[in-house]
Amino acid sequence: MTHPIGIFDSGYGGLTVFKSIAALLPEYDYIYLGDNGRAPYGNRSFETVHQYTRQCVEWFFSMGCPLVILACNTASAKALRTIQQHDLPLLAPINRVLGVIRPTAEVIGNYTTTGKVGVLGTKGTIASESYKIEISHFYPHIQVFQQACPMWVPLIENGEHEHDGADYFVQKYLNDLLHQDTDIDTVLLACTHYPLLLDKIKKYLPGNINVVSQGDIVANSLASYLQRHPEMDIRLTQNGSTRYFTTDDTIDFDTHGSVFRGAILQSIQVAIP
Ligand code: DGL
Repeated sequence: MTHPIGIFDSGYGGLTVFKSIAALLPEYDYIYLGDNGRAPYGNRSFETVHQYTRQCVEWFFSMGCPLVILACNTASAKALRTIQQHDLPLLAPINRVLGVIRPTAEVIGNYTTTGKVGVLGTKGTIASESYKIEISHFYPHIQVFQQACPMWVPLIENGEHEHDGADYFVQKYLNDLLHQDTDIDTVLLACTHYPLLLDKIKKYLPGNINVVSQGDIVANSLASYLQRHPEMDIRLTQNGSTRYFTTDDTIDFDTHGSVFRGAILQSIQVAIP
């Protein structure tokens, strides 16, 4: 039996993070789960995001994963703390669930010189203020300006992100962010779907602004975690395998997912809970 690392997202977005993880740590076994049947999570309540995420984490554990990465900012913002503090001790005390917000907050100070950072995310991530809180722990002097971009995930999930119609909403949210402060020099894509809009985002941002995606940040943080936690590392099998699961249609997942992953993939449908 394999003991893979579980990679979770509400849908396809986590594949942008998994792409970086698989490139950096190809030797491990992985299971990716997209909860496409219930996506998007971005506008859902704390209770619902926690319930859905916990059910998916339980499924990963039942598949033999000792370690699960929530490659979804919305789930990291709204469910991770409760899962770590409340659910994990009851479900599987020696297993671990990690998110994407803390590793990103840890390094964001390396990108800014003005100390003014813009954060783009789903409504849920922005309303949780998770980035403001986490960044203030590591960099108390950094000012965080937030902008919710509720139309971006639906545009991406529906394959409209490369078409001209998407430009209106890309430009609108970027303008709304930059109007908050003219000295913002770093824009963080705090949603794992947004790297698919990178070309358009760069088109509408002044060239001196750094655009930060999370894939490589999360991959580096996972590599460092595994080095610092040999007791976890030894529990993970290393055959270089990946299996993809979705809670919705597999043909849709394989078609859209391969664009996010940058490779052909074949998924299996699973019912959760
Ligand atoms: N990919 C998820 C994130 O990083 C958002 C997608 C959704 O709204 O479900 O927040």
